[in-house]
Amino acid sequence: MRQQHRQLAQLEREGAHLAPGASEEAAVGRRVFTEGRGPVLTDLDGNQYLDFASGTLTQSLGHGHPEVVRALTEQAARLWNVHDAATPDRAALLDTLARLLPEHLDTYALFSTGAEVVEAALRVVQATAPPGRNRIGALRHGFHGKTMGARMLVHWDIGHQSFAGNSVLGYAPYCYRCPLGLTRPTCELRCAALVRRHIADKPSTAALVFEPVLGAAGVIVPPPGYWEQVADACRENGVLLVADEVLTGGGRTGAFLASELVGVEPDLAALSKGMANGFPFAVLAGRHELLHDPAAATPGAYASTYASNPLGIAAARATLEVIERDQLLEQVRKLGELLDGRLRGLSDRFENLGDVRGLGLLWGLEFVTDRARRTPSPELARAVYAAALDLGLRVALGGHVLRLAPPFTIDEALLDEGVRLLERAIERAVTA
Ligand SMILES: Cc1ncc(COP(=O)(O)O)c(C=O)c1O
Repeated sequence: MRQQHRQLAQLEREGAHLAPGASEEAAVGRRVFTEGRGPVLTDLDGNQYLDFASGTLTQSLGHGHPEVVRALTEQAARLWNVHDAATPDRAALLDTLARLLPEHLDTYALFSTGAEVVEAALRVVQATAPPGRNRIGALRHGFHGKTMGARMLVHWDIGHQSFAGNSVLGYAPYCYRCPLGLTRPTCELRCAALVRRHIADKPSTAALVFEPVLGAAGVIVPPPGYWEQVADACRENGVLLVADEVLTGGGRTGAFLASELVGVEPDLAALSKGMANGFPFAVLAGRHELLHDPAAATPGAYASTYASNPLGIAAARATLEVIERDQLLEQVRKLGELLDGRLRGLSDRFENLGDVRGLGLLWGLEFVTDRARRTPSPELARAVYAAALDLGLRVALGGHVLRLAPPFTIDEALLDEGVRLLERAIERAVTA
């Protein structure tokens, strides 16, 4: 067992004043981290961890990447906030975004968090929607943030169903737990056909807000054909496609946008986590005509206190330039194949690992009490999470799913080491 006494003393001290409601990860993990270098974190008692959660799926380049640190510290010494006035880095950042994003997404508004950028997308939808189109579509199991507009689209997680408002929900492509009780390929993508029908039957729908790969719900990867059908239905019925790529954007799945991998051409895309290597920053990318629409682009529409702030811009510019220069998307695809093979090995070995799925360097491991019934086991996921921390591996925990999202810059040896630690953690948890 690793030393934890200094950390526990700190946690007890802060407990006197800190509001409860921490993430499950923080509550179960009970760690006090002091430093991050590349893929390695250190805690207050000097223990080290391989960070396969990359912060909160944010530090794509690993912790404390020297070029991002340099950009941030130089900017911190110069200028912090001039509202949304231009600073010299901004033009360069916008050019980089234009090179990395699909050509049709050529106009950008800059923000600081995921929920904030989703709200900005909703405002654009609301402002530009033809009369009578007052509903927003979303998918079951989608997650879009904790602000009121975003909550309207999220009907699970922390139980705020009453805010459902004017949203309509369609079936997510959750094959492992098919909402219709079907199996592939005989299902013939009935979930997509129903979403299609839903969209056609509800002419009041202005937009579909979607995660191309559903991240928070446990890395739900759509089967081929799902998005083709749903996106076609949106196009045929004049429904805007708003990709929430807050988690997937920036290369995590092996393409800059996961939408590119699943074959959707969104009208708007919201990006955040992977944009500035952990510094609060977000981008709303959109078609020129949409973000320039006079109804959307009213004075101040894309401005707020921290939107377009110089520190975020400096960090984002450095992060994205490294991703582009070092061809890290290729690296994500290569390491992703390796991880795929290793994780499938684990699922062959452990009966309680019901499903393993992912793309690039974004993977979800679903724990069950037994394979036949697929009964979710949050207890086991939590036990594996805690055992992994004790062994020196940090992953992301949510309900009965563990997510893995190592930094793009990790080497093969450390990737293997992380999987070995995970294997030992599962062994410990299932035999406990
Ligand atoms: C897909 C998606 N959208 C929106 C959000 C909300 O982002 P934030 O926590 O920065 O507000 C998240 C956060 O995990 C997310 O995964």
